[in-house]
Amino acid sequence: MRILITGGAGYIGSHTAVTLLDRGDEVVIVDNLSNSSAEAIRRITAITGREPLFRQLDLRDEHLLDEEFAANRPDAVIHFAGLKAVGESVAQPLRYYAHNLDATFALLRTMEAHDVRRLVFSSSATVYGGGQVAPYTEDDGPIVSTNPYGQSKAMLERILSDVAEADPRWSIALLRYFNPIGAHPSGLIGEDPNGIPNNLAPYITQVAVGRLDEVTVYGDDYDTADGTGERDYIHVDDLAAGHVAALSWLADNTGVRAWNLGTGVPTSVLELIAAFEAASGTEIPYRVGGRRAGDLASAWADVSRARKELGWEARRTVSDMARHSWNWQRNNPDGFATAARPLTDGDAP
Ligand code: NAD
Ligand code: UFG
Repeated sequence: MRILITGGAGYIGSHTAVTLLDRGDEVVIVDNLSNSSAEAIRRITAITGREPLFRQLDLRDEHLLDEEFAANRPDAVIHFAGLKAVGESVAQPLRYYAHNLDATFALLRTMEAHDVRRLVFSSSATVYGGGQVAPYTEDDGPIVSTNPYGQSKAMLERILSDVAEADPRWSIALLRYFNPIGAHPSGLIGEDPNGIPNNLAPYITQVAVGRLDEVTVYGDDYDTADGTGERDYIHVDDLAAGHVAALSWLADNTGVRAWNLGTGVPTSVLELIAAFEAASGTEIPYRVGGRRAGDLASAWADVSRARKELGWEARRTVSDMARHSWNWQRNNPDGFATAARPLTDGDAP
């Protein structure tokens, strides 16, 4: 199959591109590189020995997108591209709503124009908003989210459901990711956040590698086993496999359906720090600070629907996630800016 990946130079998109190329699919990546590097494309090629087609474009430039569909009409699309920082979305709501909606509208119109109606959409556990008790089942959401980023995902889920309802030729998978971490075992691709990371795992690895001094644990007085926040961390390669499973569903079904992609297992902040200490053999200094505004005590997935309907489940452990994240960070202390380093340098996975 030929799969077009929007945002395919980004964190989750690059891992999904590797998984698809490894299984023999043809991959077309479109990305404006606003939050990624062309080096990721070179690394995808180094890992798989196969070069994806890559076109640097902004989805909102519909004319260029149309040209790409005309030149390389895909069988299905995986749509990762968008803005994703929760805090930034609170500060810049217009930019977030306009970007995430406009980019998706342009994509949907172009897909219709070229008679391509299979779509996998990157949604998020944020559509559950936090009013419910974990584990979340798909029927718990989407609800009104507490931030514009999350709300843009909930709105897009609704828009995509309306599109599928109006025209039964569409088949659309809404994948609600929990907390993706980890990296490809080669250490060649991984998460490469701009500036100081907001998320826990990249923050920990940057402390471990000496770029940051210590982790601040956002509260240890939650009603959880050790008092720190619990999340459902999922290895990015398991997430990538979930997209492959969703593509199979699209080939056999029409309509729209949502699935949680998580492990179904909660891990606390202190447990994650301990896993990274074991993986890196380094002590990771931390101090306990106050709670972060808007944080939930616990969020994890009920994964039974994906297991039953997609035949998919996460296989990798938190220890695998920590080992692979660390391998990526250690080999690329400055992320993709460390491009001068030999590609295969590093430990075996
Ligand atoms: P990422 O920022 O690494 O990747 C997104 C890619 O899209 C980037 O390469 C960026 O340059 C590109 N892009 C952004 N706007 C574009 C546009 N208008 N046109 C073309 N390219 C554009 O993010 P990620 O972590 O890989 O996340 C992928 C998707 O998954 C996003 O939609 C995100 O909201 C969703 N998601 C991520 C997480 C997470 O924790 N990483 C959790 C839940 C959902
Ligand atoms: N945390 C710390 N210190 C840090 C960063 C985080 O203690 O420096 C804690 C948080 O309080 C939370 C846990 O680590 O308990 C995980 O926090 P992250 O920021 O890594 O992840 P979140 O669950 O808060 O947010 C993620 C994505 C959002 C998405 C949300 C729900 O970043 O985009 O999951 O899917 F909306």
